[in-house]
Amino acid sequence: MERKIPKHIAIIMDGNGRWAKAQGLPRTAGHKRGADTIRTIAIECNRIGVEVLTLYAFSTENWKRPQDEVDYLCKLPKLFFQRYIRELNEKNIRVCFIGELQRFPLETQKVIEDAVAITSKNTGLILNIAINYGSQREIILAAQAYAADVLKEGALLPLNEEIFASYLMTSAYPPVDLMIRTSGELRISNFLLWQIAYAELIFTPVAWPAFDEKALQECIDEYNHRDRRFGGLSK
Ligand code: FPP
Repeated sequence: MERKIPKHIAIIMDGNGRWAKAQGLPRTAGHKRGADTIRTIAIECNRIGVEVLTLYAFSTENWKRPQDEVDYLCKLPKLFFQRYIRELNEKNIRVCFIGELQRFPLETQKVIEDAVAITSKNTGLILNIAINYGSQREIILAAQAYAADVLKEGALLPLNEEIFASYLMTSAYPPVDLMIRTSGELRISNFLLWQIAYAELIFTPVAWPAFDEKALQECIDEYNHRDRRFGGLSK
């Protein structure tokens, strides 16, 4: 049987801190290595024909971490893109973001805007990075936007799943086929709650900094063994 490649993979990149601790390194070293893993996995997803890779880089709850760690996570996109934007662009990867970026330092916002602009014409993988993202917040913003349209119209507008999805930050992307969480935790942590309605979920014990092409291929193998019925019956 033909091996199916998920159109949209979402990853909760967990375990940076534990990985660093196990190596006797500071937590920030885990995040730095985790950023390198983003490059590896984006390039592999692009090579095998994944359409969208959405990565949870910073949640609306991550502001609660110690200030020095928050500062480092805010700085990391700059370090990452300075190092890798040229390569990602050469590989035809398009960088996009979801989340409320306004809370990040202006310098970080600028780097992000530049990465999006430089790669905007690319037609390969969409590397979609979620920062200052929370799914419940996204759903509230969507409901507010719908309500604003209703007020403008002066009457209720039609609403169904497809129309509601068009108000979400992911409106341009297909639903998630496969969601992976690294490092052994069994939670969704407010990531893409609407979009994973029919996704296959895989929880791997591998920490994000150690997650590599082989680990990704194993997840895709497992995905291929799942029987996706979307509420129907097996064929
Ligand atoms: C979870 O590990 C990871 C994060 C909260 C941050 C993820 C960020 C990156 C991988 C880099 C982002 C880079 C760019 C370019 C946007 P944890 O710290 O919660 O790990 P732990 O559970 O072991 O403590």
